Amino acid sequence: MMELLHITLLRPGANPNDPQAPNAVNYDESKANPYPKLPDPLVAKNGKRVTTARVWWTRRRPEIVEDFDREIYGRVPKVTPKVKWEVTATTRELNGDVPVVTKKLIGHVDNSSYPLISVDIQLTLTTPARANGPVPVMMEFGFVFPPGFRPPAPPPGVPVATGPTWQQQVLAKGWGYAVIIPTSVQADNGAGLTHGIIGLCNKGQPREPDDWGALRAWAWGASRALDYFETDKSVDAKQVGLEGLSRYGKATLVAFAYDRRFRIAFVGSSGEGGAKLHRRNFGELVENVAGTGEYHWMAGNFLKYAGPLTPQDLPVDSHELIALCAPRPVFISAGSPKVEGGWVDQRGMFMAAVAAGPVYRLLGKKELGTTEFPPLETPLIEGDIAFRQHGGGHTTGPNWPTFLAFAGRYIKVWA
Ligand code: GCU
Repeated sequence: MMELLHITLLRPGANPNDPQAPNAVNYDESKANPYPKLPDPLVAKNGKRVTTARVWWTRRRPEIVEDFDREIYGRVPKVTPKVKWEVTATTRELNGDVPVVTKKLIGHVDNSSYPLISVDIQLTLTTPARANGPVPVMMEFGFVFPPGFRPPAPPPGVPVATGPTWQQQVLAKGWGYAVIIPTSVQADNGAGLTHGIIGLCNKGQPREPDDWGALRAWAWGASRALDYFETDKSVDAKQVGLEGLSRYGKATLVAFAYDRRFRIAFVGSSGEGGAKLHRRNFGELVENVAGTGEYHWMAGNFLKYAGPLTPQDLPVDSHELIALCAPRPVFISAGSPKVEGGWVDQRGMFMAAVAAGPVYRLLGKKELGTTEFPPLETPLIEGDIAFRQHGGGHTTGPNWPTFLAFAGRYIKVWA
């Protein structure tokens, strides 16, 4: 890819492990904004200010989509293979005291164009057994941990989560929940780029610089799950929300921005490559995501901005990704810097949420309501863009009740 781009050297990412290193990660707010001027989502490429919803939809939004496609996340091929969904098991069970029906599903991707690669998307769907009609569903991008893996214990002083799980909180509203396994669509590593859905579409060959990366592939998988929900009578496919954490928080925001059928999104600690402004110098940087461990999330072209170019040269920034979600409700979530650390750049995500506001306003919706970074655990959920830092670590867990309060303004409790 670097050869294709005529790049020989990339700048190293921020180093979180050695404060003496020349590229030590920055957590000093006074040094965090080297490029304070953001691209204006409401000024078109021809220099004209966008003042009507019509011009936003017909001219300006497509310009922004094109920039994200080409330079940041890559393009989804014009034609992607069909997916045939198969229910492999249906189980009646109890979650807490709620009777539910869980379907295990596999989405078989048509690989007749290149039989050497097969892709089978893993999905589970759980709906309340007593629902008397289609229900709203929250779908999570699910992590798969290696067998025997046990999540690290929370640091001392941080309360261990008790109370209902997110699935139980969702069921309490009469909704269902689903979990899609992103790595069944596309592996979470660079070596996998010639396999999975990206490799299948490229017939096993490496990517072009504007081909899609894993984030868009994962988002594509979520859209195929939504295609299935549109055929399943237990789901109200007009009321399907998305949730994900960290790399899957990025995937959540990308999926929601691009596929306007999704109703709401809960974007957890998405950081660099997600809601955090690329133009910030705080925590993780463009250079980290362009590095060997993460470049596969993005388009090849993204590497340029860690090479000869800088984040300032990006034609768009993440506030415009949030703006692509407008007018639909989006909840930007983070943990406490004290517990989660500052790698995700909580404030950088907040700033992007603020800067997306004018687009929401143009479309008749309400923005965040403040430009001042709120104290920990302050819910900003009165507008159509929401933000809250919970008191815990790198998780969405403690923000579920606040997210559901926000979501309740758009999606009803189901009887
Ligand atoms: C790393 C990476 C982040 C990512 C995170 C995760 O920390 O730098 O960008 O969000 O992993 O997915 O947990």
